[in-house]
Amino acid sequence: MNTDNIWTHKGTFLLAAVGSAVGLGNLWRFPYLVGENGGGAFLIVYAISVFAVGIPILIAEIMLGRNSRRSPIMGMRFLTRCHNASRAWEAIGWLGAISALLILSFYSVISGWALHYLGQMLTGALKAAGPVRLEQEYAALLAAPITMTVYHSLFLGGCGLLVGLGIHRGLENGLRLLMPSLLVILLVVLFYAASVGDMSAAADFLFRFQLSDLSLAGWLAALGQSFFTLSLGMGAIMAYGAYMSGETSLTTTAFTIALVDTSVALLAGLAIFALVFGAGLAPDEGPGLMFVSLPLAFAAMPAGSLVGAIFFVLVLGAAASSAISLIEPVAAYLVERFPLSRAAAVALVVALAWTLGLITVVSFNLWSSQSPFHDLFGRSGFEVIELITYVTLPLGGLLVALFAGWALTRTESMKEMHSREPWLKLWRFLVRFVAPTGVAFVFLRALPYIEGYTLPAVGAAVIVGAVAASRLLGRQRDAPR
Ligand code: PFF
Repeated sequence: MNTDNIWTHKGTFLLAAVGSAVGLGNLWRFPYLVGENGGGAFLIVYAISVFAVGIPILIAEIMLGRNSRRSPIMGMRFLTRCHNASRAWEAIGWLGAISALLILSFYSVISGWALHYLGQMLTGALKAAGPVRLEQEYAALLAAPITMTVYHSLFLGGCGLLVGLGIHRGLENGLRLLMPSLLVILLVVLFYAASVGDMSAAADFLFRFQLSDLSLAGWLAALGQSFFTLSLGMGAIMAYGAYMSGETSLTTTAFTIALVDTSVALLAGLAIFALVFGAGLAPDEGPGLMFVSLPLAFAAMPAGSLVGAIFFVLVLGAAASSAISLIEPVAAYLVERFPLSRAAAVALVVALAWTLGLITVVSFNLWSSQSPFHDLFGRSGFEVIELITYVTLPLGGLLVALFAGWALTRTESMKEMHSREPWLKLWRFLVRFVAPTGVAFVFLRALPYIEGYTLPAVGAAVIVGAVAASRLLGRQRDAPR
């Protein structure tokens, strides 16, 4: 086997997977979801989702990547041949690539906002700014397509550079520097928040159990979040798994990723809410929590600009280590499939995501109320992209679970897992039954978006699902078990 394509250190896979998992999802989305959905009650549902759905699929994705030692698309082609399964399973690779490009496109635009706020903090432009000023700042940023495009280009270009340098020189070296620095920064911000903010109010808010605030939408949000935050369904983990050493334990690695990811989300939540409460602000700003409430809190606190700048470096670093994991699977495919250099493949992926990202950019200004997307789908381009990923992402994860649970035989999984019998049994049960059911529920998140079309849409989905299932599972019956 070509050892050029294996991480140099055993721990690098863990570093890379944690880098992929910890991102805007932890620092930006998780805190406001907890805020909106009943604190502790949301956390419990989230923890159950991570254990019963997230971790089993995480193990499955690493397993498929490591077993095939190829990019997700080529890897699935290889695995279907080896296991005499239907070629339709290759959909896993393609769906992943589509989701990765779409997510990368808007992820980069939003990360660009963090770049803007980093600049504002460094120049002290927001020092002592009040709520009105900060609302205006946010609105002005969203209304400026050129500025947003510049930030989007800088962010994506930087990430492309790192991936373009290769898995050793670029990814490994970059991650080994980035990840420990991010941990230190998180601790600095946490310490600062504990000393100038209101930590007990934050803890009370995050951990108080309020079942009544947890709606069905909250349950679905918890499931969807556990999926998104662990970077599942996109081929990212599969691509990194392809470079993982054969000896490392899948189970320990997957549990560690989930534990670190959840701890970072909780610590970030504590820090953010301590600052927000300390400044006497409301916790339920929704998505504006990071770009309005938090800068407002920093503006009111001692050395706020400095710590604010440090905080946005954390956001950018975490976002970058996630974004590179979205570039890698698609770039790796292009290199395997076409006579392209790695640099050219990465440039192509970046160019595609950059162009798609322009749709998100203009969705907040030029095309905010009228656009071809509004004419066709009644919503902005950004919302359409988001909606597509609401479907492709869980679908990818569902197929991964089904493939690992049903197309791979018990002996094959045992070979990869080399773990104890009871856990293997539990994992197989989770990945065969529980995870697919859980992920199927994530689809329901898309329902509010398709109101008028709900019935026909659900009907069509069931038919497509049944046809796909019969194709996917069909051939495998004659496969050796
Ligand atoms: N897990 C990342 C986050 O929580 O921000 C987002 C993400 C990165 C999703 C990479 C998917 C992915 F493949």
